[in-house]
Amino acid sequence: MSFEITIEKTQNSRIGQFDPENIGFGKIFTDHMFLAQWNGSEWTNARIVPYGPLSLSPATSAIHYGQSIFEGMKAFAHKKTGQPLLFRPRENWKRLNRSAERMVMPVVPEDLFMDGLKKLIELDAAWVPQTEGGSLYIRPYMFATDDFIGVKPSETYMFAIFCCPVGPYYTKALKIKVEEEFSRAAPGGVGFTKCAGNYGASMYPTMRAQQEGYDQVLWTDPITHTLVEETGTTNLFAVFHNEVITPKLGNTLLAGITRDSVIQGLRELGHSVIERELSVAELKDRLAAGELKEIFITGTAATLIRIQGFGHASTYYEVLEKGDTQVSDSIKSWLDGIRHGETEDVFGWNEPV
Ligand code: COI
Repeated sequence: MSFEITIEKTQNSRIGQFDPENIGFGKIFTDHMFLAQWNGSEWTNARIVPYGPLSLSPATSAIHYGQSIFEGMKAFAHKKTGQPLLFRPRENWKRLNRSAERMVMPVVPEDLFMDGLKKLIELDAAWVPQTEGGSLYIRPYMFATDDFIGVKPSETYMFAIFCCPVGPYYTKALKIKVEEEFSRAAPGGVGFTKCAGNYGASMYPTMRAQQEGYDQVLWTDPITHTLVEETGTTNLFAVFHNEVITPKLGNTLLAGITRDSVIQGLRELGHSVIERELSVAELKDRLAAGELKEIFITGTAATLIRIQGFGHASTYYEVLEKGDTQVSDSIKSWLDGIRHGETEDVFGWNEPV
């Protein structure tokens, strides 16, 4: 099925106010956005319009009962031609629909997602930063739009996409606090989805960690708080002498697309990568034994960032100064090379627009 998408171009482009040398993260929005509505039985009114406020009823069900899901993806400028390259967008489409099913929301057909996305990026291509470390962050999302009070799935929904030119989300190696009191997700819950509530619930523990001098929380399993899961914004990798370990996925972890790309890339570069349980005790013991070389974290917004050290039970463990960054250096430049069209795209991950 193919959808008709109407386009209303802005009469007042803001591109002249955009300074690609000074971007920041998440505060500048491109000229247009894509919108489509689920009317209870089908997706309708697919359109690209100037970026701007949405008009919503105060009773909008997403605001009260939390049927709200989103994705984060990026487009990178080809190093030589400047052409926007979407990085693995269909993986985001699949994950959005996994979130939608769990939250009793309608799935978005692949062609609605991809056609809306590509038309939007085509129109706002001039916003894709060509600068070192810059990219276009793309935010597809869906939320319940019934104006209704009562806990039941909404009948109507809005699916939307907007974009932000961005620089780095984190600008330095992070100190993370191993969380032993609060939990991000429980077995059987919604931890594997990108629902808005997961992030809302993380803010209090993150604030507490920041008050203690850390940058982020390292979530552990909700039952014993002994197994590493993910940080507040990323997945995590630990590099030992001859193997790289990342916590195995389950229904309490988000299946990061950068995580998957890094696993495939590391194997392509000849490293052994194992997805298994990783305990805080193993991190501490193998750090003490000189076997833990580095910890790094991966996410769409964060890309790949090193961990300076971690705090556990009021003790701080320095990692970066004791280790080396050979593995993260090599996977980072391999991935950056693919994303900017400089390295052969061996897995066919880029979709040029
Ligand atoms: C992303 O990495 O895209 C996220 O949604 C996480 C958030 C830090 C922006």
